[in-house]
Amino acid sequence: MSKTVKLEETIDLERPVHEVFAYVSDFSRVEEWDPAVSRARKVTLGAPGVGTEYRVDMNAGFSIDYTVVEFVDNERILMTASSRFFTAREEIFFDLSASGTTLRYVAEFHFPAVFRAFHNLFPGVMDRIGKSAMSGLKQALDDNFATPQASRILATADKLVLPGVWRFTKLGYRDSRRRWKPVSAYLGNHRALVTGATSGIGLAAATKLAELGARVTIVARDRSKAEVIASEIVMETGNERIDIEIADLSLMKDVHALCDRLLAADDPIDILVNNAGALFNPRQSTAEGFEKSFALLLLGPYILTERLLPLLQRSESPRVVSVLSGGMYTQKIEVDDLQSQRGSYSGSVAYAKAKRGLMIATEKWADEWAEHGIVVNAMHPGWADTPGVETALPGFYRLTKHFLRTPEEGADTIVWLAASTEVGKVSGKFWLDREQHPSHLSERTRESADERSELFATLDEMLVSTASGGSRALSA
Ligand SMILES: NC(=O)c1ccc[n+]([C@@H]2O[C@H](COP(=O)([O-])OP(=O)(O)OC[C@H]3O[C@@H](n4cnc5c(N)ncnc54)[C@H](OP(=O)(O)O)[C@@H]3O)[C@@H](O)[C@H]2O)c1
Repeated sequence: MSKTVKLEETIDLERPVHEVFAYVSDFSRVEEWDPAVSRARKVTLGAPGVGTEYRVDMNAGFSIDYTVVEFVDNERILMTASSRFFTAREEIFFDLSASGTTLRYVAEFHFPAVFRAFHNLFPGVMDRIGKSAMSGLKQALDDNFATPQASRILATADKLVLPGVWRFTKLGYRDSRRRWKPVSAYLGNHRALVTGATSGIGLAAATKLAELGARVTIVARDRSKAEVIASEIVMETGNERIDIEIADLSLMKDVHALCDRLLAADDPIDILVNNAGALFNPRQSTAEGFEKSFALLLLGPYILTERLLPLLQRSESPRVVSVLSGGMYTQKIEVDDLQSQRGSYSGSVAYAKAKRGLMIATEKWADEWAEHGIVVNAMHPGWADTPGVETALPGFYRLTKHFLRTPEEGADTIVWLAASTEVGKVSGKFWLDREQHPSHLSERTRESADERSELFATLDEMLVSTASGGSRALSA
């Protein structure tokens, strides 16, 4: 004879019902709050609703398949579950309460006769599993996590080549993620602008932000590619608030035109992700006369971010995230040769110097814009398997491809920096896998105060001269 076990748990939460519902109704996020779960994913397309299916891998070594059978917005979700060991009916109720929301979880597990012995051997185990899941969910929704601090151990490991480089691979990602906290911040009222969202890491970040409910503006240089990508994001996430802006970000006339359009529309920007990038070999100049890595990786995002300040200021919790690279550790900014005109050209060096420049700008914005509550951070995505890496660095790609992380894994820290509540308390830092890393590994790469001033004087001069149109590649 089969055995039925019933569970019922209630928790009170100081969050509005729509926020609690938004978090819990995407059941793939159970991996953040249920300690018994190792991984969870949505296996059907579209927004959570009737018919959505999830596969949840348990730490105990088996999987559970969930199907949503009833879904009433902000009120109730009913799911059926099936695994090797049991079938279940799990129902979650969301009720308005004086402090916010009361969440009630009611479940009925059916164990076939062969697994009845399990209960005799481990009485109360299901209760304990239910209680620890509900306490994890409460902690996730209380959303009161400490901001990760810089760690001396990490800083030392970064200086040693092998441990530092190991962190960039998928193994580093897997190690770090064991320490992560849930991100339950509500993004339904946020607007994110993501550059380079048609491929690789930017595409993964835009998709995740859309999945979390944000309105996402994709900035791309190719309209037809952007339209295909936008409709794929809508299909995958069910979020229809995806729009497109066209700009070649290596051309300052396009960057200014983009800023003009966004400023004229006057919609606040809550999240700006400076992600578009590429590595150029041999040296190339844009039609405006700028060396291309400098234009795309430093001057473009500098002008974009500076000019969008009024829209960031209109957000309640604005964030800027710039995607840099561990390569910047090898270079110092050379203010008198920003466009790599001196000596023989190396695409990797020009790339790393431009990323270094954007790190310096990140520190400046963090300082200057703290008074507006704007949080500005930079990150290294690690080594991710993207079309950009495969085409720009074929030798490196062949050598490392078995250790590369997925674009989604590379994009994780972008989304965390953009969304998580605890990041609101830290600005001007460099991150990898949600951990703070030093922005320099050697004094050799550190610029002086005079060099910083000179860098910003040059970038500001270029901002002004390119705004009035024409080719203005200063000799810097
Ligand atoms: N993958 C890694 O291991 C790694 C490591 C360190 C840092 N990064 C950084 O991560 C970011 C994303 O790189 P990825 O690996 O995801 O490369 P990717 O797959 O090549 O994607 C790059 C994105 O940037 C866009 N882009 C390139 N040039 C542009 C331009 N002139 N104007 C507008 N958009 C432009 C591309 O648009 P199209 O689709 O039109 O080409 C694409 O959407 C870059 O900043 C890169 O430096 C990556």
